[in-house]
Formats: sequence, C-alpha cells, structure tokens
Amino acid sequence: MFPSSTYIERRKRLKANVGSGIILLMGNEESPMNCADNTYLFRQDSSFLYYFGLDFPSIAAIIDIDEDKEMIFGNEPTISDIIWLGIQESLEEKARKVGIQQTGPLDKLATILADATGQHRKIHFLPQYRAENIIKLEKLLSIPNAEIANHVSVELIKAVAAQRSIKSAEEVAEIEVAMDICYEMHTTAMKVSRPGMYEREVAGLIEGLALSMGGRISFPVIFSIHGETLHNHYHGNLMNAGDIAINDSGGETAMHYAGDITRTIPIGGKFSSRQRDIYNIVLKSQETAIQAVKPGVEFRDIHILASEVLAAGLKELGLMKGDPAEAVRAGAHALFFQCGLGHMMGLDVHDMEDIGEDYVGYTDTIKRNPQFGICSLRMGKALEPNHVMTVEPGLYFIPELINRWKAENKLAEFINYDKVEKYKDFGGVRLEDDILVTEQGFRLLGKPIPKSIEDVEALASL
Ligand code: GLY
Ligand code: MN
Repeated sequence: MFPSSTYIERRKRLKANVGSGIILLMGNEESPMNCADNTYLFRQDSSFLYYFGLDFPSIAAIIDIDEDKEMIFGNEPTISDIIWLGIQESLEEKARKVGIQQTGPLDKLATILADATGQHRKIHFLPQYRAENIIKLEKLLSIPNAEIANHVSVELIKAVAAQRSIKSAEEVAEIEVAMDICYEMHTTAMKVSRPGMYEREVAGLIEGLALSMGGRISFPVIFSIHGETLHNHYHGNLMNAGDIAINDSGGETAMHYAGDITRTIPIGGKFSSRQRDIYNIVLKSQETAIQAVKPGVEFRDIHILASEVLAAGLKELGLMKGDPAEAVRAGAHALFFQCGLGHMMGLDVHDMEDIGEDYVGYTDTIKRNPQFGICSLRMGKALEPNHVMTVEPGLYFIPELINRWKAENKLAEFINYDKVEKYKDFGGVRLEDDILVTEQGFRLLGKPIPKSIEDVEALASL
C-alpha cells in the first residue's frame, strides 16, 4: 500500500468535496465459486482501496464529515481464522497503516448507521455491483434492496470520480509496474504463438506470467483468432498459419492498478497483404489519435478523428465510399468499428465503471451520443493533465452484422457491400496503448511494445 499520508490526504479532499453527512464505503466479501471455502480470487472494491487501502474481505468504513470522524469496521480474526489462514494482524493494527485510529466490530457500524438514520442524517454511498453489499445496505440503512440504486449519492459519485480521475505521481508509477507486466505478457505471446497451438496455451501462459510477476490479470484475457468478436473469452481454437490473433490483455499490480494493451499477432510469423492493409489502417488511426491527446481536447473528438482515419483507409481499399467525415457523421464506419476508442484506466481497467460511466466520462453538457458505435464510447469529455487513457481503435468484420446491414442496404451510399462480402472471413485487428495526459500533450506509459508490422513480424514465431 501507499504511505498512510496518501490515504489521509485523499480522505481529507473527499470530505471537503462532499461537504456534509456520513460517507459509507463498503469493502467486498469473498465470493464462493461452488462452496463457501472455495472462492474466486478476492478483489477488494476499488473506491474502498483508494480511500482506505486495506485489501481483505468483510470490512466497511465511514467518514463522518460533520463530526470529523473516520472509522473502519470489521470483525477481529478468530482462532479458527488463525488455524486455517495463519496468524493475522488485528484490525486496529491494519487500520493504523492507512491513518485510521478508530476501529470497531461490524455490529457497531449497524448501531451508528441506525442512529444516523433515526436522526435523518444524510448517508452517502456509491452504486453497488455485488449482491452481498446490496443485502448489507438493506439491513444497515433500512432501504429495500430493490430501492438501493435509487438512493445512491450523486455528490459522492461526482467527488470520487473527480478525485480518482486525476492520477498522482505515485499512482502513475504503480500503473507503470502494471505496464511492465503487460510488456512481458505481450512480447511473450508474440514469441510463442505459432501454427498448431491452441489459443488456450497462449492465454494460460500469459495469465500465469502476470501471476508470476507478483500481480494478476486486470480482466479476463481476450486472446482469439476470432478477434471480430470484441470481447472473445473463448480460447479453444486451434491456430493455423495465416490466422491473426488479437491479444487484448493486461496485468494488474499487487496494489490493483491496471494495464490494458492490445496487439494483433500473425500466426506463422507473416501478415498477408490483405491483413497488412487492414492492420496499417488501424495503426494509422491509433497513431493519429494518440498524437491528438492533450489537455482540453474532448475525447469524443479524438474518437471521431480516429474513426475518420479508419473510414478513409477503408475507402482506399474500396470497402467504403463517399466523404469519410460524412460517412462517420452518418455512423457508417460503425459497421467495422462498433465500439469506443478508449476509456480511463487506474484501479479498474475501465476506471470507475461501477460508479457510472456517464459521471466518469461525460458532463452536464457533454452527453453520450446514442448513435450505434459511438454510444459505447466510455469517455467523451475533455482530457485533463494526469488522466490515464487507453487508445484502442480496431476494425472488426462481424459476418452477422454485415449480413443484417446488407439486407437493409443500410448506409449504402458509404459502403461497398460487394467488396465487404469478401472480408467476412477476415476476423479483426485492434491496437491499444495506455497514455498519460501531460500538461503539454501525452506520454506513452510503459516500455514500447512492438507494434509496426516489421517489429511484430520480427518477434513473431514462424
Ligand atoms: N481491454 C478490454 C476493454 O477495454 O474493454
Ligand atoms: Mn481497453
């Protein structure tokens, strides 16, 4: 964890930004796979980690702004915990490491919140994504579980989003530890992938690498020769010479900061000329988008810019026609680029998605565009120094989507359906890097991972 001063300072700013009332932050519980003692890997809630740093289950915390009190609640380890899990520090000892002097059992949290509810005091809490915590809040706050989502605190969401969006130097340094893991995961995948292997052999190897480097994966590995499926977690395909595999994967550090990188690998070591053409369009789109990153620029405009480069490239290949800017305005490029250009990244791979993308990536005046494609853009607002962003354009040939658009002759003034028909077996190409917004522009995070056709082919196995 960071020094206690980091957490003390973060909570001080949160108190000032929220203003009054009681802030309640819930830690996560263990999550059973199939029985209570056989659990999924524990993952603490990211906002809890950000303000309270403690990385173990069954704890919650309050910040009473009006009475200037901060407390962590949890039950002390029992002798059974010690027998099965080893010697444990007391809650009090752990809490002191993050600058908290007051701790108590979970019963005490219930009493404090019941008193506060009785006095009609405002209790701020964030949107919840785990059923256990919804059930706990139902009991703690006397709000029916189906109503919890209607009682979240918009003041708290906005304060947390504003604070967590701006990464400190120590956070950026930690993200760069995640980038080191990403570097190994991606260069290893390039080196080992070869015809005759199953995708799962590479997916398993790189997930193990993240574990062996002291971290874990920041989201389930996407490694697939069917890269046209945006989030393809199936790893059962045999890879043949001439396939291309999308590797969208990243490491998460022991402190839970994420990396998120995508590379596209030629199986058999060489891209075909058709693959080179599509790859180079995506590369140009990504490089153009990255160069446009600087404070004050709205990320939705960078998404449009990247989309226009994709449309112009597809026009050159004869897959699209007409004016690329007009085609993008009409949404025609979304036949090939169905998602957003990128997202914030930090303690979560899609940072703060749980508290509401529209609060994190949009504002009262910059609203999400509902058009197919750009509606999936997770961040539209202006960039600020110390935002950390992913930039990840791609081109995806989804046969079912092509069939449906073609049947409707949709946006046919911009799409050459006869030519597109020939690409239905293509798959997909995506390239993704992680960027720090600086005062002047941007800095690529981590050691550069091979990306040009020449550099990727130089590393890829024959
Ligand atoms: N890396 C997966 C995603 O950004 O959705
Ligand atoms: Mn991403």
